[in-house]
Amino acid sequence: MHPDVPRRILVLGGGGREHALAWRLAGEAGVEDVICAPGSAGIATTTGVRCAPVDAMDPAAVVALATAEGVDLVVVGPEAPLAAGVADALAAAGVPVFGPTSAAARLETSKAFCHEVAQAAGVRMARARAFRGGEDEAALAYVRRLAANGIGIVLKADGLAAGKGVIVTDSPEMALEYAPSFLAGRATDQPALVIEERLTGTEASVIAICDGERAAALPAARDHKRLCDDDRGPNTGGMGAYSPLPDVDDASVARIVARFHEPILAEMRRRGLPFRGFLYAGLMLTPDGPALLELNVRCGDPETQVILPRVAVPLAPLLLAAARGSLPAETPVVLPTTPEAAVGIVLAAHGYPQSPKRGDPIEGVDAAQAQGALVFHAGTVARQGAGGGWGTSGGRVLAVVGRGAGLAQARAAAEHAADAIHWDGVHRRRDIALRVPGQAEVLA
Ligand code: AMP
Ligand code: GLY
Repeated sequence: MHPDVPRRILVLGGGGREHALAWRLAGEAGVEDVICAPGSAGIATTTGVRCAPVDAMDPAAVVALATAEGVDLVVVGPEAPLAAGVADALAAAGVPVFGPTSAAARLETSKAFCHEVAQAAGVRMARARAFRGGEDEAALAYVRRLAANGIGIVLKADGLAAGKGVIVTDSPEMALEYAPSFLAGRATDQPALVIEERLTGTEASVIAICDGERAAALPAARDHKRLCDDDRGPNTGGMGAYSPLPDVDDASVARIVARFHEPILAEMRRRGLPFRGFLYAGLMLTPDGPALLELNVRCGDPETQVILPRVAVPLAPLLLAAARGSLPAETPVVLPTTPEAAVGIVLAAHGYPQSPKRGDPIEGVDAAQAQGALVFHAGTVARQGAGGGWGTSGGRVLAVVGRGAGLAQARAAAEHAADAIHWDGVHRRRDIALRVPGQAEVLA
């Protein structure tokens, strides 16, 4: 049986991940038209993709666009529109949507909820406890208890606590100092802070297409989260990624899906919150086996940019089938991949992540593409006037993806293409996919 191919697809979002999704879907057989909202001028240069200036955060506006355009499928890129109920509104209007409801998106938006579901599902996560506003003494006591056992500590803000993020430390003093700041001013009836034991090992991302019941995994990828080489500097959204992972083969991915994604899907179904969408398991591969660090309810950025070029089967029909709640019975647990490797390097603006500088002219995008690299736009604008071209307009500006027979070749291609691009103050890491666990040599 051949599943239906959606002819017209609406992709919500406007960053590098959405550029990769739109590029991939527009290139598939039977897909005639991809609309990206709001998209960007850079995304609109992709063959088969047009952009619509509609706010992805506005459920009514998104439903109006999807209906007016008669789209067969909506694919939601970022988590914020999902949390805002865009998928709920589309489903209520009868538009097939690949992306979870707002209630199911809490797997990402509330770390306490994620722990609760994982525990009920028997999924291994770091030992943790959640604290509400006003529970400072209990939180400090928990920090002391972990510290007394020689365990490093992770502090995570629960819910939408703009910018507070995650602190990972081996210093009990630092954890004791910062824990109260996560609780200050927070409501006493909701989790505000999750304190976890620190796990050590290597991280890996396994993202699966889920239809509420079943999961089909995309190729595993690894993100480089810190700003600077050798994993120094602050955490960022991600400075580069690569796929495949020599230390996580297809058999390991299948075991990960069975131990993480499938039990989570079953528990969400049991709660009446079937999860349809991309379910991203951020894992720590510890000496005792994999443990879940976090769930995201979307694809990763920049992981998507290196994953999608490697998927060897059409994605559009799978996303539509999953949106309808029924992946085809023959869908493998691990989707087939191309043998080629992909390495993606993020080019960021000066001052990222705190205060990125905007408005600099970008040189060399065409030259990088002429080398055969994929260039995905994240924070660019089309410059008006004489020279035209692109200018910077965000923190992460571009992701440059090199492909090759193996990671060494893909890395060389990505480095070479990234070297061709320049603007004033451009920042990037030079060690993306350089030291790869499970790989004998450094991929210099
Ligand atoms: P999260 O937003 O939960 O993914 O956390 C962001 C980053 O913090 C992760 O990608 C890890 O690098 C790190 N991290 C989170 N939780 C832990 C943990 N329990 N142990 C060690 N590192 C962690
Ligand atoms: N690159 C990590 C994320 O998308 O959450």
